[in-house]
Amino acid sequence: MIKTIQTTPFDDQKPGTSGLRKRTRVFMQPNYLENFVQSILLELKETGGNSLVIGGDGRYYNHKAIQTIIKMALANGIEHIHVAKNGLLSTPAASHFIRKYGISGGIILSASHNPGGIDEDFGIKFNTANGGPAPESVTNSIYYKTRNITHYLIADIPDIDMDSMGTAQVLQGTIHVFDGIYDYVQLMEALFDLARIKELLENGFSLRLDAMNAATGPYLKAIFQDRLNMGEETLLRCIPLEDFGGIHPDPNLKYAASLVKSVVEGHSASSPDFAAAFDGDGDRNMILGREIFVTPSDSLAILAANATLAPGYRAGLKGIARSMPTSQAADKVAEQLGIPCFETPTGWKFFGNLLDADLVTLCGEESFGTGSNHVREKDGVWAALFWLNILAVTRKSVKELVQGHWRRFGRNYYSRHDYEAVDTSLAQAFMKRSEELLPSLNGNTVFGLAVKTTDNFSYVDPVDHSMTQRQGIRIVFEDGSRVVFRPSGTGTQGVTIRLYLERYETPHGNLSLHTQEAVQALVNWTEHVFDLRKSLHKTAPDVIT
Ligand code: G1P
Ligand code: ZN
Repeated sequence: MIKTIQTTPFDDQKPGTSGLRKRTRVFMQPNYLENFVQSILLELKETGGNSLVIGGDGRYYNHKAIQTIIKMALANGIEHIHVAKNGLLSTPAASHFIRKYGISGGIILSASHNPGGIDEDFGIKFNTANGGPAPESVTNSIYYKTRNITHYLIADIPDIDMDSMGTAQVLQGTIHVFDGIYDYVQLMEALFDLARIKELLENGFSLRLDAMNAATGPYLKAIFQDRLNMGEETLLRCIPLEDFGGIHPDPNLKYAASLVKSVVEGHSASSPDFAAAFDGDGDRNMILGREIFVTPSDSLAILAANATLAPGYRAGLKGIARSMPTSQAADKVAEQLGIPCFETPTGWKFFGNLLDADLVTLCGEESFGTGSNHVREKDGVWAALFWLNILAVTRKSVKELVQGHWRRFGRNYYSRHDYEAVDTSLAQAFMKRSEELLPSLNGNTVFGLAVKTTDNFSYVDPVDHSMTQRQGIRIVFEDGSRVVFRPSGTGTQGVTIRLYLERYETPHGNLSLHTQEAVQALVNWTEHVFDLRKSLHKTAPDVIT
C-alpha cells in the first residue's frame, strides 16, 4: 500500500519570502511537488508533528496537489490529516484552524496574488504549529532536505472525496474533511461588533467588496450575505475560479483598477462609501473610501490609532510591528500611544516571534498586508471588518477619518515602484554597486537632500536573537523621508526590484498633494545617485502602487 519512490534533488527548491513559488508547469514535472512535500513532512515528523492541515486558494492544480499531499502524509505516518472541504482555505483561515485545534502544521497551496492557471503560477507554503509561516530556520532545514533527497513515500490508494465533510480512517491515519469557512467566521464575530456594522449598513452606508474570483468569496458571502443581510450587488467576483478569471488577483491600484476607478477617481453619488478588495489566498487587502485610496501603511496606522473601538482590541495594543519598507506612519501612532514599534524585514514570518511573545498586537506591510495577534498571517477580510467597525462607531466617512489622522500625525506620502523581470545579473550588479555607494552618501547633502543615515538593513530578532542580513538598501533623510530598494523574494521570472518612496509632511505641511507628485523629488534623487533605470535596462516602472 505504501510505495517508496526513488527521486533526485531539484536545485531550485529554496523557499522565498512566502514559500516555494514557481510556474505551475514546474510543479507539474514528475517528482517536483513530491520532493518538496516529502522534505516538509520529514521536517514535521522530526519536530514531533503528527497532524496536518491542507488547503489552498483554489487555483489550477490545487486539487491534484492536495490529493498527492494527503497520500504522502498518510505514507509518512501523519495521524490526523485535516483537509478543507473542496480544498478551499484562505491563508488566514488556515492559520486560525491550526491554532484553534492545536495542529502541528499546515500546507497551504497558493501563489498568493500571482495569476493562476497551467501557464501561470503555483505555490506551496508551510506553516508551523503557531499558525504562522515557517521561520527561516525551518525553511532552511526543508531546503537542505530537498538538496539531499533520495526517495519519497506515497500511499497507493484512490483519491479521497474532499467535497463532503466527514471523517474517514485510511491506512494508519484519519482524514477529516472540514468546513474551511465556519471557524474563521466565528473568530470574526468574536473580534468585531457585527451588530453595529449591520446598523451602519442598514442606515444607507454602502459597500462594495471584491474577492477577485479567489479564495475570500465564500467567506464574504458567509459574513456579509448570511450574517449582515447585504444584497448580492455588494459582493463582486465571489466565486473562486481556477484561473481567477484570467486576472491578477492582486488588490492594488493596478490590478483592481476598475474598483479604484468607480470608488475613488470616477466617483459619483452612486459610488459606495467603502470598498475593499482581497488577493488570491485572502491575506491581502486594499481599502478604499469614496474619493480616497488608503495606503496600506496608513491603514495600519489608522487601525492602530482607533483599535480600541473594536471589541477584540478594547484592552489596547501591546505594540505595533511593520516591515522595514512600510511607511513610518505607524511609528508616529505608537509613539503617541507610548507603545513599542518594531521594524522587521519584509515577509510576515518575521512578525511571528513578536506576536507569540505578546510584544505586538497589530502588524502590517506596505504590500497590502495588515493583521493582528488573532492569527499568524495577514488577514484581508479581518482588515475590512476592522475598518467597518471603526466607521460604524465614529460615523465618519473614510476620507474624514484619514484626513483627520493626517492632521493629527502628519502624512507619510508613500509609493512603491516595481521594476519587474530584470535580468538576474543586472539586478545583482545594481544592488552590489548601490551598496558600495552608501558610505559616500552618509551625512552629506546630495542632489539637494540631506542624507541622515544609510544601510543595507539587517535585523536581530528580539526574541530568538536570530540575525537576518541585507534586507534592503535604506536611505533616511533628515526630514524623515526615505528611499528604500530591495530585490523581491517572491518572483518567478528574473528579479523584481522594488523601490519604496516615502516623504513625510508634518500636520501643518501640505497634506493634499498627489502622491506621485509628492515623491517625485525622491525618484529624481534615486535616479541621480543610483542611475536605477539605466542600470536595470528600464525606462519606467512596470507597476506603481
Ligand atoms: C512580497 C511583499 C511582502 C509580502 C510578500 C508575501 O514580497 O513585498 O511584503 O510579505 O510578498 O505576500 P517580495 O516579493 O517583496 O519579497
Ligand atoms: Zn496572499
